[in-house]
Amino acid sequence: MIKTENKTYTPPPDKSITHRALILAAVAEGSTVISSPSICADTAATSACLKKMGVRISASPGKLTIKGVGLRGLIKPSGPLNSGESGTAMRLLAGLLAGQEFDSVLTGKGSLLKRPMARVADPLAAMGAKISSSGGRAPLSIRGSGLIGTNHKLLVASAQVKSAILLAALYAEGPTSITERLSTRDHTERLLKHLGARISSGGLNLYLRPGRLTAKNIKVPGDISAAAPFIVAACLLPGFKLTIKGVGLNPGRTGLISALKAMGARITVKPGAAALEPEGDVIVYGSGLKGVRIRPDEVPSMIDELPLLALAASGAQSVTVISGVGELRHKESNRLKTTLELFKTLGLKAETGKDSLIIKGNQRILGGNPAETFNDHRVAMAAAVAGLLAAKPVKIKGPGCVDKSYPDFFTDFKKIFCKKTGG
Ligand code: S3P
Repeated sequence: MIKTENKTYTPPPDKSITHRALILAAVAEGSTVISSPSICADTAATSACLKKMGVRISASPGKLTIKGVGLRGLIKPSGPLNSGESGTAMRLLAGLLAGQEFDSVLTGKGSLLKRPMARVADPLAAMGAKISSSGGRAPLSIRGSGLIGTNHKLLVASAQVKSAILLAALYAEGPTSITERLSTRDHTERLLKHLGARISSGGLNLYLRPGRLTAKNIKVPGDISAAAPFIVAACLLPGFKLTIKGVGLNPGRTGLISALKAMGARITVKPGAAALEPEGDVIVYGSGLKGVRIRPDEVPSMIDELPLLALAASGAQSVTVISGVGELRHKESNRLKTTLELFKTLGLKAETGKDSLIIKGNQRILGGNPAETFNDHRVAMAAAVAGLLAAKPVKIKGPGCVDKSYPDFFTDFKKIFCKKTGG
């Protein structure tokens, strides 16, 4: 049952930033303390790969200490490096490994073995990297080689690809420039600057000169993607007020908040003091929504939140059209397809147009059928939100996939939105 009182929620630390903090601290000179790191299956995979290359990472409550080995201090791993099911781990590590003097193999499991890797292997090859793959998929075999700074025009709007190139560029001879097609999250750029890299940016352009990094402590804000199901649920529950504390507000990640506001949601953002990554509190009030049109250039800032936005749109007063959704096909599941499957299960209608997702408004979530998660944490979380609003209960099949990014998701969600936990 839904409570309609004021609630306060603190999201877990940001996964995307933690991957980058681990990798960059590993090749910096000196010790870095990462405070409030994300602890989940994906970031554990990144840590394990770095440890296998001789990096010492020690954990204490709310902290990780990384003994940086410097750019040239990694050692050849004794076997394949396993990225688990993390696309960010695999793509960023591919960039790091491309610049090493030793050979390595990067592998993974489950859906990661089906996800496209040519998008990183090709630009890295243009810098001189020797990467062979299995038809553009993992495992990736990376031969140690010298890299040359190159100018890149990114074909896909992907922060993972951009970050892989930046990591390789640290090792290249001469500067590297990148022009993005659409603006994406800039966590890597911010951290590189923080650790003393010679990087400059303007608009869609980036320029990095190779060089060493100097260790400096890193504080990770709350994960806005983890908070997203809470934001959407609170938005859709009349009379609800949810205060979200200490959440990351990187402009490359706040698209969901902008979209919901454009739909008429009552959301107040209270930015905190300036920091490496912007962060603050977000207050969400339950309210009615109207449909919205989302442009392709807005999509990267809400890429992981689109199933939730689609769900919110189904109950809005008019139609919603989200354009530029093609990248959804390459997530933990084909998220365009699996969002439509989830909709079907819930008794909702949505259709795909040319690179767009069209959601009719004024629909009611019927529920009553078990919802498949397709081993995709974001689909599982959208199903949980749907379950709160559905006329009949929604049983979630395979809820354990939330361990990928947010192991305590269901506990936290029940605490905020259900009268009894464990019920
Ligand atoms: C991420 C970037 C996005 C996002 C993923 C995390 C990152 O992927 O979907 O969950 O940490 O850089 P793409 O870069 O492939 O769009």
